[in-house]
Amino acid sequence: MFPDRVLSGMRPTGALHLGHYHGVLKNWLRLQSEHPCLFFVADWHALTTHYEAPEDIERNVWDMVIDWLAAGVDPAQATIFIQSRVPEHAELHLLLSMSTPLGWLERVPTYKDQQEKMTDRDLATYGFLGYPLLQAADILIYRATLVPVGEDQVPHVEMTREIARRFNHLYGREPDFEEKALEALKKLGGKRARLYQEARTKYQEQGDEAALEQAHALLQETQNISMGDRERLFGYLEGGRKIILVEPDALLTEASRMPGLDGQKMSKSYNNTISLREDADSVTKKVRTMPTDPARVRRTDPGEPEKCPVWQLHQVYSSEETKDWVQKGCRSAGIGCIECKQPVIDAILKEQEPMRERAQTYLDDPALVRNIVADGCEKARKLAQETMREVREAMGLNYS
Ligand code: TRP
Ligand code: SF4
Repeated sequence: MFPDRVLSGMRPTGALHLGHYHGVLKNWLRLQSEHPCLFFVADWHALTTHYEAPEDIERNVWDMVIDWLAAGVDPAQATIFIQSRVPEHAELHLLLSMSTPLGWLERVPTYKDQQEKMTDRDLATYGFLGYPLLQAADILIYRATLVPVGEDQVPHVEMTREIARRFNHLYGREPDFEEKALEALKKLGGKRARLYQEARTKYQEQGDEAALEQAHALLQETQNISMGDRERLFGYLEGGRKIILVEPDALLTEASRMPGLDGQKMSKSYNNTISLREDADSVTKKVRTMPTDPARVRRTDPGEPEKCPVWQLHQVYSSEETKDWVQKGCRSAGIGCIECKQPVIDAILKEQEPMRERAQTYLDDPALVRNIVADGCEKARKLAQETMREVREAMGLNYS
């Protein structure tokens, strides 16, 4: 399809913790070195559920950006921006809403699930129903091909694909499409044009998916054609319409197995987290007071690591050698629990050290963060505006 581009967003709901780091952020760090990446703060999405408490949003937005930067998201590699600073997202959301069947939105599993879970607020709102459509606009406006998300968000990406397909179907028609596609084909040059035609025939006559992939790759390598011609040539491979909005793929982020302080998955709702930049004293205290195997009442009672949440943290942080020491020392009552916890404390502090350092730079000079985000917003906005020009034209809204 269009060149690979990664897009992901996070709602600004408070300080990120080590579960986010081990689950989502480490994944972003890898992606930013492999593809062009756009990472944004989904502040409007936060409002769909927290519309009654907007006063926290501003602080949460900046804290989250600092958390990202602290974790190593690199503004030289990735574009970091805020959703509400690119108002084109709202325009696309509105335009897509015209043709989005209500049933598609009502059927998204998070709609009913969240309504049932968040009983403390009224989510029978227009904005909340539109949550996945706003997300679709976030994705489609950048023609993102790869969307790293957790499992619960996969249905949103699936719906985004349907929205794109429907849009292209409704608005990708041109009266003289075939002629224009053939004109565009000429611009590819003799050899490429021939390869394109061969692949198209193989795909259309024999359903050869590999040939379709080859043609996509060929178009992806081609630099010297206009956006409109690119849309036509992508569309012409499969049928008689332009491909204006690109169907993205979900990149499933493996569920973080990061255990929290009580052995359950680390999560704000379990109140068992260590935040990304939590200060050293507090980390030490939290780990020291973690529950252990209840069988170890006295120091001389042997224990069983499998029944201890501290052991789960060793599995994330410790070397084979240390783990061996824990297993033996615990089962023989050779070590005490405080002693056993120390390597975990040390490892967490070591992991956080570069994060705290990076964060400090930004806390000392908030203008730095503002500039990174201003830059990112500007870059994102250019891309968004390019897509919106195409969208408006396709929908007949390009009159002046
Ligand atoms: N809904 C996502 C979440 O709760 C956040 C989000 C908003 C998002 N827009 C997005 C994620 C676009 C990926 C792409 O986690
Ligand atoms: Fe848990 Fe370590 Fe104590 Fe064993 S020695 S109960 S593994 S903290």
